[in-house]
Amino acid sequence: MAKTQKFTAFTLVASLIVAIGGLLFGYNTSSISGAILFLAKDFNLSTIAQEMIVSIILIGALIGACFGGILTDRVGRKATLILTTVVFLIGTFLVMTANHIAMLVIGRIILGLAIGIVSLSVPLYIAEMSDPRHRGALVSLNQLAITIGILLAYVVDYFYAPTGDWRSMFGIALIPTILLFIGLFFIPETPSFLASQGKKEKALKILKKIEIDTSKSEVALSTKISTKKMASWKKLFEKSVRPALFAGIGISVFQQITGINIVIYYAPRIFQLAGLESAASAILATMGVGTINLFMTFVALWLIDMVGRKPLLIVGILGMVASLGVLGIGFLESTKATSIISIVSLMTYVSFFAISLGPVAWLIISEIYPMGIRGRAMGIAIFANWTCNYIVSLTFLTLVDFLGKSGTFWLYAAIGLLALWFVIKKIPETKGKELKEIQDYFKKKAAKK
Ligand code: BGC
Repeated sequence: MAKTQKFTAFTLVASLIVAIGGLLFGYNTSSISGAILFLAKDFNLSTIAQEMIVSIILIGALIGACFGGILTDRVGRKATLILTTVVFLIGTFLVMTANHIAMLVIGRIILGLAIGIVSLSVPLYIAEMSDPRHRGALVSLNQLAITIGILLAYVVDYFYAPTGDWRSMFGIALIPTILLFIGLFFIPETPSFLASQGKKEKALKILKKIEIDTSKSEVALSTKISTKKMASWKKLFEKSVRPALFAGIGISVFQQITGINIVIYYAPRIFQLAGLESAASAILATMGVGTINLFMTFVALWLIDMVGRKPLLIVGILGMVASLGVLGIGFLESTKATSIISIVSLMTYVSFFAISLGPVAWLIISEIYPMGIRGRAMGIAIFANWTCNYIVSLTFLTLVDFLGKSGTFWLYAAIGLLALWFVIKKIPETKGKELKEIQDYFKKKAAKK
């Protein structure tokens, strides 16, 4: 028992290096919120063109998630990460030097592709390098890095806003990208990927290095020595995998359709709607959102392997639903008191997301799929995540027109109740379990049907 409980400095450093990918995800999706104001002026952009430049990155990401799944299963987790870093470098270079709108659009699609791939390969890599007792916190370093990236983008945008220097707003991303690129050469391939390729000896060596008890791990228990480059696609849709596939897609969809990115992408606008009239105070309040998001993710990291994934999900989603309900009430009238209610409930909403659907959705999908098809199965769930992100961001302003501000937030609250039902019914507790045990749980579930 004691042996499986360890996690080494080596694992932590490898996880921290890879988590820079999460930071790039957060930064590159959020830096546009400040930059767009100045891009609009410099390129004389219509509202539609602005919306396209903002949202096209999500299209890139949903395509990237599919590619990422195939790549990680085929060439490996590490090689995929290295390749993606190069894609990040190309995308960043294009957007920071853009002198034409087409260059900007292409650069943002390329950045989106890279974001889609890291959103998959980072949690996947860390999950396969962790011991069961610390896997929750280690994989959630990814979410922590995403929130750091988001906050960093808000701060950098704020810093460059007086000069309108959008090239630097994008360009700062080069620093973490280069750091990630260098760091990746110092980390190994994951034992699970090596084992899935029949390289069991090598895999066991790495497990030994990170001091994981091999006896119960999926690596030791994998009896089939594969000679193929990649497990068959058929396996992905076998009956035994279906309940896990469904659970992963569901949790990913609910992470998005409960409305988080309305707040992350439109925060200044919502604050203005709530009565903070000056742009400066709205931007400052937005930084408050970023800070609280980061801080509460730390709390999640601390709790996730102690109280488990499900209690966090249940409490968090309940809190999100309650906050959205109150937010809707706050928007019914516009007085000083209701504006304070709205701002506070927006903050509590983000806090509850940060201890639940934020980190836990990424964690669950990295834990529930069988070794040889893990990348592709995650790819399907993450494709669903980015697709819903796109739909929610695109429909928010239209929904406000149709349902009103209060009605829109109440709609997200109702969806939150559905999410709660789904979590209670379909998501098992994975705290402290070996990946193999979790797979067996889903297999048994499928067999019962
Ligand atoms: C979500 C993103 C969101 C971020 C906010 C992530 O887990 O996938 O869509 O913007 O959390 O912290």
